Amino acid sequence: MINRRIFIIFAKIYTLMETIQVKDKRFAVSIPEEKIKAEVKRVAEEINRDYEGKEPVFLAVLNGSFIFAADLLREVTLPCEISFVRLASYQGVSTTGEIREIMGLNMDITGRPVIIVEDIVDTGLTMAHMLDTLKKHNPASIDICTLLLKPGKLQVNLDVRYCAMRIPNDFIVGYGLDYDGFGRNTKDIYTLINME
Ligand code: IMP
Ligand code: MG
Repeated sequence: MINRRIFIIFAKIYTLMETIQVKDKRFAVSIPEEKIKAEVKRVAEEINRDYEGKEPVFLAVLNGSFIFAADLLREVTLPCEISFVRLASYQGVSTTGEIREIMGLNMDITGRPVIIVEDIVDTGLTMAHMLDTLKKHNPASIDICTLLLKPGKLQVNLDVRYCAMRIPNDFIVGYGLDYDGFGRNTKDIYTLINME
């Protein structure tokens, strides 16, 4: 009897939550559109203030950051440029096995202040690698601007100057972020519902 009532309560909560299905997994809204908008605007204002008098180059890391970059750039009032880059991995002849290269960097960033626009910093390994590679192009400076950061998962010492939101370790989708290629096209951000 008690078990049945508990089951009904949980079933009701579950259906009340705004959930979506992405492939074989179910996700519930965790960050609504309004909250994302407000935090993206706040970060853009920080950049506007810190970069006053400069002409930064934004490097948006594809695919995940395409929506964040579009919203962020519309709040940036500085004279600036944007380029969309991608980190490509391939098996090379190096002893470490994997070589990662920045694809799509079709402009000279020598002496320019660079702001990397990333969707999410998880272990931080992607950004650490990106910093190393970009430094070889001799930019004046490099800052990281990420929509999301999972502080609990960071494995490297990374200076993330701009961060819209800090989140727990759970897997999320939406607003550009994907699960197996799907789920990028939502206005809110969703967290995986753990059924176990
Ligand atoms: P890192 O190298 O571990 O920091 O991984 C960063 C990349 O992993 C991000 O650019 C995302 O593409 C992906 N990623 C990490 N966490 C998530 C998540 O919760 N949802 C979707 N993609 C994620
Ligand atoms: Mg990414």
